[in-house]
This record gives sequence, C-alpha cells and structure tokens, in this order.
Amino acid sequence: MQTVRDLNDLRAAVAAFRADGARVALVPTMGALHAGHIALIDAAKRAGTRVVASIFVNPKQFGPNEDLARYPRREAADARLLVDAGCDLLWLPPVEVMYPDGFATNVSVSGVTEGLDGAARPGHFDGVATVVAKLFNQVTPDAAYFGKKDFQQLAVVRRMVSDLDFAIEIVGVPTQRDDDGLALSSRNIYLDEEQRLKAVTLPRALGVAGRAIARGDDPAAALAEAQASLVAAGFVVDYVALVDAATLAEPAHADRPRRLLAAARMGQTRLIDNIAVDPTLTR
Ligand code: PAF
Repeated sequence: MQTVRDLNDLRAAVAAFRADGARVALVPTMGALHAGHIALIDAAKRAGTRVVASIFVNPKQFGPNEDLARYPRREAADARLLVDAGCDLLWLPPVEVMYPDGFATNVSVSGVTEGLDGAARPGHFDGVATVVAKLFNQVTPDAAYFGKKDFQQLAVVRRMVSDLDFAIEIVGVPTQRDDDGLALSSRNIYLDEEQRLKAVTLPRALGVAGRAIARGDDPAAALAEAQASLVAAGFVVDYVALVDAATLAEPAHADRPRRLLAAARMGQTRLIDNIAVDPTLTR
C-alpha cells in the first residue's frame, strides 16, 4: 500500500489506477480504525475497485467543547490494518493541505441537517460536507463508502452528491457491532469497563422500541420507554427519534421506510446508533 501526503502524489497514484483500467473507491475516515472501517474497505474490494482510504481528523466538524484534542490518533496501527485489508492507497493530507491559509469556503446542506445531530452539534455537518466535498475533488473516486452507523451523515453526503452533481456512487454499509450489539465506534475506547457494560443499553433500547413500533404500538410511547431505559442506565440523552429514512423528517407515510435514531452521552462519551424499523422496506 502506498501512503501519500501530497496532493500531486495522490493525483498521480489515482491516475495510475485509472491507466490500468481500474475503478477507484474512496473510504473516508478519521482514523482509529476498527472492524467497521474494515467492512467499508471489504465492501469496496468486493466491488472490484482500487481502494483509497483517507485519514484526516477534520477540525471543522468538531464543536468548541468536543473531543478534537483527544480524538485517538494511531497512524501506524491504522496503516497496518489497511495493508491487511488490502487497501491500495492511504491518503493522509496534512491540515495545511486540506485547509491552507485563507481557506474560506463552507459547504452547507440544508433540510436533512436540521434535526438530530444537526441540532445537537451546530456546524458539525457543514464541517463534514466541506471536508467530504474536498476529499471527493482530491481523490475523484467512482464510488465512496460510508457506514450506516452515521446515518444522518450518509443522508447529508447523498444530498450533497445529488445537489452538486458529483458523479460518485455513494454506498452505505451496514453497522458493524460487538458481540453484545454495541455499534463499533472509534469513540468506544473512551468508555471505562463499567460504562462499556452500560453502553449496550443503547442498541437494546433501540431494538425494543423498533420492534414495538414495527408491530404497531404507539411510537411516542416506544420512544419514551427507550429514553427512560437509557436514562436508567446512566445516559444523558440528546435524542431518540423516529424519522423517514430518506428525508429524516417526521414519518409521513406508513409505506415508506422509517429509521429509529438515538444519540446519548455516557460520561464524556457521546454515542450514536440507529436501526431500520421496517426491515422489509430497508433503505
Ligand atoms: O465518518 C467519519 O469518519 C467522518 O465524518 C468523515 C466522513 C471521514 C469526514 O471527516
């Protein structure tokens, strides 16, 4: 696997892939890689593409009181995992390449960013959309792979790609989970042993509420029960919400896929998760 930190080198490497007749896929990450990221690489490999992974801890998507300074950085270990996964190229842009002096552009997607994490983390999705647009222009992939754990992020990227005519296929990959059901996340390492045990309440509460809503129980009661079980486990809840899986607005039609999403803090660690409510209609 080649590792590049310079934009000209990146472009030359991608041009060489294309000269071989290969399709190119991008797996954008912030590093601290785990099996969830490797599932993205695997999905891209299965599609027969050359895979470019990027690692960039994007300052623009962290709020002033968030965990930018302590976000895990493990470049060497990440590179080893990527080699083992068969990644072809690692793009490691320095911050001054991504945001040179005088950088003044912001990509802002409205609509799908307005509730949920968009409300709880003001500016977060502008930061995500801006860096993803830059990564798309730098790598010029044919396809890009994103985890469904960040379901709202996936919706934001899809909207941006459609609105700005990026000729890039966006592939959503199912959430990878630990044996007890906790969604894999680079932030799980912040949890101490006791918090980790309690954290499993998040996927369990979503599962219980999702099944109740799918069999026709009152959604408001199911959401309230999920919220109560999270609080009882020691979470501070940002939201538990049922939305239309495409628009992320309140579900309007019973025949459209719905998604149940939650964000909650266990101590200093903010966890998110989501599930499909109507798996037969899954988006
Ligand atoms: O999901 C992430 O790791 C990040 O939000 C992304 C897409 C790499 C943009 O910084």
